Amino acid sequence: MEREKITVLDIKRMKEERKKIVMLTAYDTPTAQILDEVGVDIILVGDSLGNNVLGYKDTLSVTMEDMVRHTAAVRRGTQYALLVGDMPFGSCITPEIAAKNAMRLVQEGGAEAVKPEGGKRIIEVVKAILNLGVPVMGHIGLTPQSIHIFGGHKVQARTEKAIKSLIEDAKALDEAGVFSIVLEGIPWQVAKLITESVEAATIGIGAGIHCDGQVLVLHDAIGINQGFKPKFVKRFGNVREAIKSAVTKYKEEVEKELFPTEEYSYSLKEEVAQKLEQIKKEIK
Ligand code: KIV
Repeated sequence: MEREKITVLDIKRMKEERKKIVMLTAYDTPTAQILDEVGVDIILVGDSLGNNVLGYKDTLSVTMEDMVRHTAAVRRGTQYALLVGDMPFGSCITPEIAAKNAMRLVQEGGAEAVKPEGGKRIIEVVKAILNLGVPVMGHIGLTPQSIHIFGGHKVQARTEKAIKSLIEDAKALDEAGVFSIVLEGIPWQVAKLITESVEAATIGIGAGIHCDGQVLVLHDAIGINQGFKPKFVKRFGNVREAIKSAVTKYKEEVEKELFPTEEYSYSLKEEVAQKLEQIKKEIK
């Protein structure tokens, strides 16, 4: 059966049909191709690009130029998944600027939806982008662009006041018309309540099993990243070790002159090879 391209309507339908939504990040063409082949529903070009690919310590240094370039690269590797591009830090300082930047992610990057961080506080931004005709994925909870306000990567919505405020955020986004909301770093009970209270599909990361779907940063999920691993990250593979093993073998074979053998070399035809002695003399 011919596979169908996934749209925001399919994501909404999946919530209605209680079919779990699978989302992962990607930042380049070949990994996007792999995710698309496997059948991931949503590919997010996250601003986690900063920590995972560009070597920054957080997402705050990521620019629109970075996002446009990497979204376009992922676009070239994505045929079926819904492609969402992150609005980086500082790209939404007014609704007009946000709309212009969202337009760039669509026009130059090929994104089919965009994801700004925040709830009630950015509702005019969300409306301005929706007015352009660009679908919006919300993102609330432990939003990494606000780590300095949170005082670090701290689980959010743990008090009655904070829970009520987060529910207001989710409802404001839902009423504005977002098709989905990422819930990051919040207790599962709060994520469950929000999931049951909004029409938008919720996608959890560190938000428990009851969300309509799940997202992880690809580099965490496949084990490229080392070091600190948040509680919510499960490693589904060890790609770092696979790369290390291949590079170690390559290094050994080059050093021991085991690579490249004839199998990996080009050769001259015999009659041309015989002329090499003559050529050698001529070039001296
Ligand atoms: O930038 C990112 O990768 C994200 C996900 C963690 C949701 O926003």
